[in-house]
Amino acid sequence: MKTTSIKVANPTISEGVKKRIVIISDTHITQSESDFNLNAYKKGIEQINKLKNVDYIIHLGDLTQNGTLLEFEYAKTLMSGIKQKVPTYYVIGNHDALNVGYLLFEEMIGERHFEIEDESFFLLALDSTIPDLATGKINYRTMMRVKNLLLDQPNKMKVVCFHHQLIPIPHTGKERSAILDSGDMLQVLKECGVHLVLNGHRHISNLYTINFGKQDLLAFNSGTFSSNKTRYRENFTYNIIEINNDIFRFNIIPILQQEKFKKEIFRKVSTYSFRKKKKNEKPFCKIIHFFDSSFSPDDKKTEQTFDKLIQKINNQNDISIVLHSGNLTKNSHKEEYEFARERLKEIAYPYIVVPGINDVKPNGYQLWL
Ligand SMILES: [Fe+2]
Ligand SMILES: [Fe+2]
Repeated sequence: MKTTSIKVANPTISEGVKKRIVIISDTHITQSESDFNLNAYKKGIEQINKLKNVDYIIHLGDLTQNGTLLEFEYAKTLMSGIKQKVPTYYVIGNHDALNVGYLLFEEMIGERHFEIEDESFFLLALDSTIPDLATGKINYRTMMRVKNLLLDQPNKMKVVCFHHQLIPIPHTGKERSAILDSGDMLQVLKECGVHLVLNGHRHISNLYTINFGKQDLLAFNSGTFSSNKTRYRENFTYNIIEINNDIFRFNIIPILQQEKFKKEIFRKVSTYSFRKKKKNEKPFCKIIHFFDSSFSPDDKKTEQTFDKLIQKINNQNDISIVLHSGNLTKNSHKEEYEFARERLKEIAYPYIVVPGINDVKPNGYQLWL
């Protein structure tokens, strides 16, 4: 298997992509009534069974609460209540992987990595779990394999699913469980021209549109279907995603009559081309940005570096503003602030300075003000 690629994604989508996908996530099925809401589960399945023209049903992980044999057996019984005539696909979640549940998942539910594909559509599902940890990771080798798979699908609608969130989600408290290698994964998704990412795990709905400069990426996070661990005011939901070429409609549907949380969001995956610069065209705004000067009156090396920088900045033309974004001082000492203030006055253009971690050590904040 090759681990590098020099292919470049084509940002266009072939005509005629029409899909209606039902998304379920974080059911957390267990015999314990404190964790799992059987009433919400049954009502949700009843509603899903009435839907028309569904192409796929995808469960985004945490099918079970603890990944135990009894729970997987119970989950299989309950999930057989889905009467739609289309397949249901399952992404593994961190709760499914608990207690070596990842082996049971493979034996009883399905592959931990899978693909759904036709002539205009390519969906790739990945295992983002780390055994017995709440956080997730894709891993470098998986990413490289994914990259090659996705780049081999030019002109198709590309969707990638994994359980953990790609980037932090609002209204979820302390961030601790986005995939650990999210920066690298974002880069892969960008390079491969992926249109949509589907995640669960945070038990609250969210949609981001990420502008990568060449093409948008939509990142949709599903809420929980039936876990009693709901977040903020959103209770139990499922989703219908309708794709019509580059137009997406996300329906977030509350199961238990929470009408005000019913949402219908339209998004277009836009592609962009850069305008060529005209001859002699002047920029609208020119900004110089630097940080980490770490001024200290005793540090001669830093001072020499700053001498050179000041010279370079002041030799530039038409600078609108100079920005220093943090760590102006080394240790927030008074004499460092006084020294830094004098040196900043040498900048021949307007400047703004914002504090960094080194500038707010004890008493630093008062000195800053
Ligand atoms: Fe969950
Ligand atoms: Fe989870």
